[in-house]
Amino acid sequence: MRIAVCPGSFDPVTLGHTDIINRAAKLFDEVIVLVTENSQKNASFTVDERMEMLKIVTEGLDNVVVASNNGLLANYLKDTGACAIVKGLRAVSDFEYEFQQALANKKLYPEAETVFLVTNSENMYLSSSIVKEIASYGGNIKGFVPDVILKKISNRLIKGL
Ligand code: PNS
Repeated sequence: MRIAVCPGSFDPVTLGHTDIINRAAKLFDEVIVLVTENSQKNASFTVDERMEMLKIVTEGLDNVVVASNNGLLANYLKDTGACAIVKGLRAVSDFEYEFQQALANKKLYPEAETVFLVTNSENMYLSSSIVKEIASYGGNIKGFVPDVILKKISNRLIKGL
Protein backbone atom coordinates (compact mmCIF):
# COMPACT_ATOMS: atom_id res chain seq x y z
CA MET A 1 0.00 0.00 0.00
CA ARG A 2 1.58 3.26 -1.14
CA ILE A 3 0.60 6.12 1.13
CA ALA A 4 1.32 9.77 0.25
CA VAL A 5 0.99 12.81 2.47
CA CYS A 6 -0.13 16.19 1.09
CA PRO A 7 0.95 18.57 3.86
CA GLY A 8 0.11 22.24 4.07
CA SER A 9 -1.39 25.07 6.04
CA PHE A 10 -4.60 25.00 3.92
CA ASP A 11 -5.55 28.36 5.42
CA PRO A 12 -7.93 28.06 3.59
CA VAL A 13 -7.92 25.29 0.96
CA THR A 14 -7.97 26.68 -2.62
CA LEU A 15 -8.74 25.19 -6.04
CA GLY A 16 -4.97 24.91 -6.49
CA HIS A 17 -4.82 22.55 -3.50
CA THR A 18 -7.81 20.47 -4.59
CA ASP A 19 -6.26 20.02 -8.04
CA ILE A 20 -3.09 18.62 -6.48
CA ILE A 21 -5.04 16.40 -4.05
CA ASN A 22 -7.17 14.96 -6.89
CA ARG A 23 -4.12 14.19 -8.97
CA ALA A 24 -2.24 12.66 -6.02
CA ALA A 25 -5.26 10.41 -5.34
CA LYS A 26 -4.80 8.91 -8.82
CA LEU A 27 -1.12 8.18 -8.24
CA PHE A 28 -1.20 6.64 -4.75
CA ASP A 29 -3.30 4.03 -2.94
CA GLU A 30 -4.03 6.42 -0.08
CA VAL A 31 -3.53 10.16 0.33
CA ILE A 32 -3.46 11.82 3.73
CA VAL A 33 -4.19 15.54 3.47
CA LEU A 34 -2.33 16.83 6.50
CA VAL A 35 -3.11 20.16 8.11
CA THR A 36 0.22 21.14 9.57
CA GLU A 37 1.22 24.16 11.57
CA ASN A 38 3.65 26.43 9.74
CA SER A 39 5.66 28.28 12.38
CA GLN A 40 6.32 31.12 9.89
CA LYS A 41 2.64 31.94 9.39
CA ASN A 42 -0.21 33.20 11.54
CA ALA A 43 -3.29 31.19 10.64
CA SER A 44 -6.69 32.81 10.03
CA PHE A 45 -8.67 29.58 10.44
CA THR A 46 -8.35 27.11 13.29
CA VAL A 47 -7.02 23.63 12.53
CA ASP A 48 -10.54 22.24 13.06
CA GLU A 49 -12.04 24.71 10.60
CA ARG A 50 -9.39 23.92 7.99
CA MET A 51 -9.94 20.18 8.44
CA GLU A 52 -13.70 20.57 8.17
CA MET A 53 -13.36 22.46 4.86
CA LEU A 54 -10.92 19.87 3.53
CA LYS A 55 -13.31 17.05 4.48
CA ILE A 56 -16.12 18.76 2.58
CA VAL A 57 -14.06 19.25 -0.59
CA THR A 58 -12.55 15.73 -0.60
CA GLU A 59 -15.82 13.94 0.21
CA GLY A 60 -16.02 12.18 -3.17
CA LEU A 61 -12.47 10.80 -3.04
CA ASP A 62 -12.53 7.32 -1.48
CA ASN A 63 -8.77 7.03 -0.92
CA VAL A 64 -8.29 10.48 0.65
CA VAL A 65 -8.34 11.13 4.38
CA VAL A 66 -7.87 14.40 6.28
CA ALA A 67 -5.70 14.61 9.39
CA SER A 68 -3.68 17.12 11.38
CA ASN A 69 -0.27 17.13 12.97
CA ASN A 70 1.62 19.66 15.04
CA GLY A 71 4.99 17.95 15.06
CA LEU A 72 7.63 17.30 12.43
CA LEU A 73 6.39 16.11 9.09
CA ALA A 74 9.26 13.60 8.90
CA ASN A 75 8.08 11.90 12.10
CA TYR A 76 4.54 11.73 10.79
CA LEU A 77 5.74 10.04 7.60
CA LYS A 78 7.61 7.48 9.63
CA ASP A 79 4.66 6.81 11.95
CA THR A 80 2.20 6.32 9.07
CA GLY A 81 4.58 4.45 6.77
CA ALA A 82 4.05 7.03 4.01
CA CYS A 83 6.44 6.77 1.07
CA ALA A 84 5.92 10.25 -0.39
CA ILE A 85 5.21 13.90 0.30
CA VAL A 86 3.21 15.43 -2.54
CA LYS A 87 3.37 19.18 -3.12
CA GLY A 88 2.28 21.50 -5.89
CA LEU A 89 4.76 23.81 -7.58
CA ARG A 90 3.45 27.00 -9.10
CA ALA A 91 6.36 29.10 -10.22
CA VAL A 92 10.09 29.52 -9.81
CA SER A 93 9.30 31.61 -6.74
CA ASP A 94 8.07 28.47 -4.93
CA PHE A 95 11.11 26.49 -5.81
CA GLU A 96 13.78 27.58 -3.37
CA TYR A 97 11.55 27.17 -0.32
CA GLU A 98 10.19 23.82 -1.48
CA PHE A 99 13.64 22.57 -2.46
CA GLN A 100 15.00 23.38 1.00
CA GLN A 101 12.12 21.61 2.73
CA ALA A 102 12.40 18.58 0.47
CA LEU A 103 16.11 18.25 1.25
CA ALA A 104 15.57 18.72 4.99
CA ASN A 105 12.79 16.12 5.03
CA LYS A 106 14.97 13.72 3.05
CA LYS A 107 17.73 14.13 5.61
CA LEU A 108 15.32 13.58 8.50
CA TYR A 109 13.55 10.62 6.89
CA PRO A 110 15.39 9.23 3.83
CA GLU A 111 12.76 6.54 3.18
CA ALA A 112 10.26 9.06 1.76
CA GLU A 113 10.48 11.02 -1.48
CA THR A 114 9.09 14.48 -2.15
CA VAL A 115 7.06 14.46 -5.35
CA PHE A 116 6.27 17.82 -6.99
CA LEU A 117 3.25 18.11 -9.23
CA VAL A 118 3.32 21.08 -11.56
CA THR A 119 0.29 23.23 -11.04
CA ASN A 120 -2.46 23.47 -13.60
CA SER A 121 -1.73 26.68 -15.56
CA GLU A 122 -5.10 28.15 -14.53
CA ASN A 123 -4.04 28.01 -10.88
CA MET A 124 -0.65 29.66 -11.28
CA TYR A 125 -1.66 32.81 -9.41
CA LEU A 126 -3.68 31.12 -6.68
CA SER A 127 -2.67 31.10 -3.05
CA SER A 128 -4.39 31.07 0.31
CA SER A 129 -2.94 34.54 1.00
CA ILE A 130 -4.48 36.03 -2.13
CA VAL A 131 -7.84 34.45 -1.25
CA LYS A 132 -7.68 35.97 2.24
CA GLU A 133 -6.70 39.38 0.88
CA ILE A 134 -9.58 39.49 -1.63
CA ALA A 135 -12.18 38.07 0.76
CA SER A 136 -11.21 40.46 3.55
CA TYR A 137 -12.20 43.38 1.29
CA GLY A 138 -15.48 41.70 0.40
CA GLY A 139 -14.22 40.66 -3.07
CA ASN A 140 -15.62 37.70 -4.94
CA ILE A 141 -13.49 34.56 -4.48
CA LYS A 142 -15.51 32.41 -6.88
CA GLY A 143 -13.04 30.47 -9.04
CA PHE A 144 -10.39 30.67 -6.30
CA VAL A 145 -11.88 28.20 -3.81
CA PRO A 146 -14.30 25.27 -4.19
CA ASP A 147 -17.91 26.51 -4.51
CA VAL A 148 -19.11 24.36 -1.58
CA ILE A 149 -16.99 26.28 0.91
CA LEU A 150 -17.08 29.72 -0.73
CA LYS A 151 -19.69 31.22 1.61
CA LYS A 152 -18.02 29.78 4.69
CA ILE A 153 -14.73 31.45 3.76
CA SER A 154 -16.20 34.78 2.63
CA ASN A 155 -18.40 35.17 5.71
CA ARG A 156 -15.53 34.42 7.99
CA LEU A 157 -12.97 36.72 6.37
CA ILE A 158 -14.93 39.81 5.44
CA LYS A 159 -13.53 42.75 7.38
CA GLY A 160 -15.40 43.76 10.48
CA LEU A 161 -17.07 40.40 11.11
O1 PNS B 1 1.19 25.36 2.97
P1 PNS B 1 2.54 25.66 3.55
O2 PNS B 1 2.43 26.66 4.68
O3 PNS B 1 3.55 26.08 2.51
O4 PNS B 1 3.07 24.28 4.16
C1 PNS B 1 4.30 24.22 4.84
C2 PNS B 1 4.34 22.94 5.67
C3 PNS B 1 3.17 22.91 6.62
C4 PNS B 1 4.30 21.75 4.75
C5 PNS B 1 5.67 22.96 6.47
O5 PNS B 1 5.74 24.13 7.21
C6 PNS B 1 5.80 21.73 7.38
O6 PNS B 1 6.06 20.64 6.91
N1 PNS B 1 5.58 21.92 8.70
C7 PNS B 1 5.66 20.87 9.67
C8 PNS B 1 6.86 21.03 10.58
C9 PNS B 1 8.11 20.52 9.90
O7 PNS B 1 8.27 19.33 9.66
N2 PNS B 1 9.00 21.45 9.56
C10 PNS B 1 10.23 21.15 8.90
C11 PNS B 1 10.03 21.06 7.40
S1 PNS B 1 11.56 20.75 6.61
